[in-house]
Amino acid sequence: MVVKKLEINGFRNLNGFAVELAAAKNLIFGANGSGKTSVIEALYFLGFGKSFLPVQRRELVRFDSSGFFLSAEVIDKSGENTITACLERGLALKLNEERSFLTQVVRHLYPLFFSHFLYSQVIDGAPHLRRLIDRFIYGLSSLYLHDVLRYNQALRQKNYLLKNLGRTINNSELRGWNTLLAETGSKLVKKRMAFTNQLNGALGEMFSDVLCLRYHPAVSGDQPFSEAALLEDLDRAGTAEIRSRRSLIGPQRDRFEVAVNGRKLQLFSSGEKKKYLLMLYMAYIDLFRRARGEYPVLLLDDYDAVMDERNLEFVLDHFPAMQVIATSVAANERFERRIELKKE
Ligand SMILES: Nc1ncnc2c1ncn2[C@@H]1O[C@H](COP(=O)(O)OP(=O)(O)O)[C@@H](O)[C@H]1O
Ligand SMILES: [Mg+2]
Repeated sequence: MVVKKLEINGFRNLNGFAVELAAAKNLIFGANGSGKTSVIEALYFLGFGKSFLPVQRRELVRFDSSGFFLSAEVIDKSGENTITACLERGLALKLNEERSFLTQVVRHLYPLFFSHFLYSQVIDGAPHLRRLIDRFIYGLSSLYLHDVLRYNQALRQKNYLLKNLGRTINNSELRGWNTLLAETGSKLVKKRMAFTNQLNGALGEMFSDVLCLRYHPAVSGDQPFSEAALLEDLDRAGTAEIRSRRSLIGPQRDRFEVAVNGRKLQLFSSGEKKKYLLMLYMAYIDLFRRARGEYPVLLLDDYDAVMDERNLEFVLDHFPAMQVIATSVAANERFERRIELKKE
């Protein structure tokens, strides 16, 4: 897939901004504060309905605006589509002028985002790696998002019950929620398991098993994973959950780990970590291409903070047909299309 054109209004510092992008390698460059990250963030927002930064939607609206409007023309194997996101009172996503949903939009635009910020989040915190893997899975199967949303909704409701009713509830009241959580949760675990195997297959082929992803579902016991086993675990945790007034187990606590030659990624130098995380991305890109018959759009914010020239060459050369949109303070001839942003 290729983003041909992007328009941004009332988003961060950008207004009346329009850019035509090349199908190949694009670089947006300019001084700090000129809006480079915001351009990437707008594209990410069109794909995922949120920012990659920990901000509220409203904070994305330009100080002097009442809302924002984003629009992208995207070419994918199905043809040309226009995706828009408009935040006024609420958020409206549209695909070719028709009201749409993220699960539909992702079929036409899947932004794959990499930056120094993401790198440090993922290296530091297990939840961030889990979210990244969830986004990866979602790129391969838009149905996975349905499963995640259903699970999270059931979890919120169970937590609400635990929190507000405290002492007065007993195990049997949790049973209904646990049944639903086991049903939806076991789908998540199975998909995460299958994805881990797929990614490890791609990693093995590309980098001869140097790197592997390990998945640790947060379920107890030695028995093989199943919906029934998860339900048993959930029921067993009931008394402790009532006491602590929140859910204690389930896939929301699953852990992923990246291992390099059998050692934890955290034990390596920061340069090595960046390289290995990039390799993980590359294996994913390969998987994505095989599963969907096209490439995602790779967004590299401040690319030179996460990779040296050699790593950049390696990624760009490896996927000549993939659209890349990178940002940096400096221009670089390696990118065919260079777009300079000026500070207002
Ligand atoms: N809601 C907002 N309204 C107006 N300006 C904003 C808003 N949020 C952030 N900014 C400003 O937008 C500018 C561009 O930010 P950013 O895209 O991160 O720049 P760059 O990546 O080029 O360094 C910054 O000066 C930032 O303070
Ligand atoms: Mg920036």
